[in-house]
Parts: sequence; structure tokens; C-alpha cells
Amino acid sequence: MSETHVRVGIIGCGVHAREVLLPAAQQAGMEFAAACDLDRRLAQRVARRFGAFRAYQDIRSMIDEMDLDAVLVCGPAELHAEAMETALQRGCHVWTEMPPAPTAAEAGRLADLADAQGLIAQPGLMLRYAPACVRLRETIAREEFGAIRQIEMAWWPPEQHAHDGPLLFDLPHALDLVRFIGGEVSGLSVASAVSEASLIALLTLESGAVATVSFASPARCPRERIVVASEDAVAIAEERQTVTLRHFAREDGSVWNADRGGAGRVSGVLAEMEAFAAAVAGEGPRSASMHDAARAIQLAEMVRAGLNEGLTWNGTGADG
Ligand SMILES: NC(=O)c1ccc[n+]([C@@H]2O[C@H](COP(=O)([O-])OP(=O)(O)OC[C@H]3O[C@@H](n4cnc5c(N)ncnc54)[C@H](O)[C@@H]3O)[C@@H](O)[C@H]2O)c1
Repeated sequence: MSETHVRVGIIGCGVHAREVLLPAAQQAGMEFAAACDLDRRLAQRVARRFGAFRAYQDIRSMIDEMDLDAVLVCGPAELHAEAMETALQRGCHVWTEMPPAPTAAEAGRLADLADAQGLIAQPGLMLRYAPACVRLRETIAREEFGAIRQIEMAWWPPEQHAHDGPLLFDLPHALDLVRFIGGEVSGLSVASAVSEASLIALLTLESGAVATVSFASPARCPRERIVVASEDAVAIAEERQTVTLRHFAREDGSVWNADRGGAGRVSGVLAEMEAFAAAVAGEGPRSASMHDAARAIQLAEMVRAGLNEGLTWNGTGADG
């Protein structure tokens, strides 16, 4: 475990905070000082279990009394926005689960507030830190891979993201990953829309490449498959476990396997917590920004608008 001397409190002590986030934050070397939840008993239990000094029901009291460097926020989208604003106004850095706010406009306003305050506001875009996604990005950035022509992202969102639903929770992750891998999006349409959770979005990128994001939900557990193709090669990241590279002309390739050890390592949450701790301690670069999260939510809002406008063709009325 590394020691960063970053003192944090958590806001929202639910399942994800207890099972994933706090273990990763502690493994990343953060000092866990206080827990806050509307459910006081839950906050007390979490404080005891993870060795924090105090438990709170009120966000403001925790931040005012505990001399925190940063807060971690993990609840519904409305909580993320409220807690982030409160923390930023009190001079506290913030890491927040996705989505940081219910709308792109609100997320953008909070991104601007963080910039104005000179504080770090990092959204929980953990796929940017998942070792397989990092490896995929490094692989396709090599000159021998060539210019990206196409990205296919197949996504099976799980049922359990009940707070926000796949369009607010999962879709921004997928769209952010397209931007992270392939650069900025220049155009978007929903090519097929069977239901809110089963759809295909077609994207054009500023580079001239095309991308598809296809959803088929619900699934029993989260799954992803990302295929990136150039004229000469294809790289495939599956389940955050492997990255396969094939060069067509040379008929050679390689397979990379993720190191499975450690809480949150494969998912990216551990590396994400390490990056946040280092940035707060002034020892690492600022990474995924709140502006990235706002852009991802904005693109997801465009997909949702496309869904609401209906299908171009729904399989009826075209007999010949
Ligand atoms: N990145 C991932 O892979 C992943 C996976 C699961 C969940 N999540 C996200 O984690 C977040 C939490 O999910 P969960 O399953 O732990 O939910 P949960 O319902 O178990 O926990 C949410 C907690 O927030 C608390 N809360 C709500 N409003 C509050 C307020 N004003 N002040 C203090 N506490 C408040 C609730 O009392 C509850 O304990 C969601 O945003 C979810 O989308 C992310």
C-alpha cells in the first residue's frame, strides 16, 4: 500500500461504497477520516468497519468539522451534484461516481465551478483506468497500428444500476470510452432502438473514423467488448481481461492478459483511486476531468433524444 497523506470522507455509504470504493481508496493509501449517510446507523457501521473517526448525517457538518482534503461521493446523481457543489464551495477536492449530475448542463456548471476554485473534481470514469482499456489505447497509438478507421463497442449493462438506468449510468461510460480511444465525436444518430436498454448508436469522429455503441440489457453482470480496426490491424479488448492484437499483412499477433490481483484492479477502480490520491497530493497529473463527464452525458442525452424521436424504420410497411 502506498501512503499519500490524503485525508478523505465518504458521502453515501451504500453497497458500492462499502464493497468496491472504500477498499480501493484504502489500498490506494488514502486516510479514511469520516463517513456520511442519511442513514446514521449505516454511516456509523461503515466508519467502524473502515476505521474512520466520525460518522455524520449531514454533508456540510462533516466537511466543516473534519479538515478533509477531499470527499468521495457515491449515491444517486442528485446527491453527487449537491455534494460536489457543497465540497467545492468549502475548498475540498471531489471524486464522484458517475453521473456527477442528472444533466450535462449541470455537470458542465460544476466543472466550471471546480476550475474557478482551482480544485480537482474527478468523475468516476473508471474504464479510463482499467488496465485492459489503458493497454488497448497504448496498442492502437503505436505507429505500426495505423490510423483508426472503426471502433465497435458492444455493451451489456447489468440490471443492478437501478438508481439511474442504463442511459444515464452506462451509456456515458461507453461514450466516454469512444472519446478516450478515438478522439472527439463529430456526429451521432441512433440507428436502431428497440427499447431504452437495447439500442445502437452510430457515431462519426473528428478523425474521420466511425464508431458504434451497441447495448443489450439487462445482463446478469456487466460485460464489454471493444474492437478497434485500422487498415492494417485489429485490436480487441474483452471483459477488461484480455487485449488481442492482429496485424493482417504480417499474420502475427499477441494476447495480453490482465493481472487479476487486488481489489478493483481489473475494473479500473483501484488505478482510478490511486490517480485521484496522487492528483490531490500534487504528485500526479489531473486525469479524467468533469468536462469529460459533462461531454459524455451530453452525448448520452443526444442518444436519448434520438430514441424519443422514434425509429427510422421499424420493420413494418416495406414489403418489397
Ligand atoms: N462504477 C461501477 O461499476 C458502479 C457499480 C455499482 C454502482 N455504481 C454507482 O455507485 C453509486 C451508489 O450505488 P449503490 O448501489 O451503492 O447505491 P445504494 O443505494 O446502496 O447507496 C446509496 C447511499 O447514498 C445515501 N444517500 C442518499 N442521499 C444522501 C444524502 N443526501 N446524504 C448522505 N447520504 C445519502 C443513501 O442513504 C444510501 O446509503 C450509484 O451512483 C451507482 O450508479 C457504480
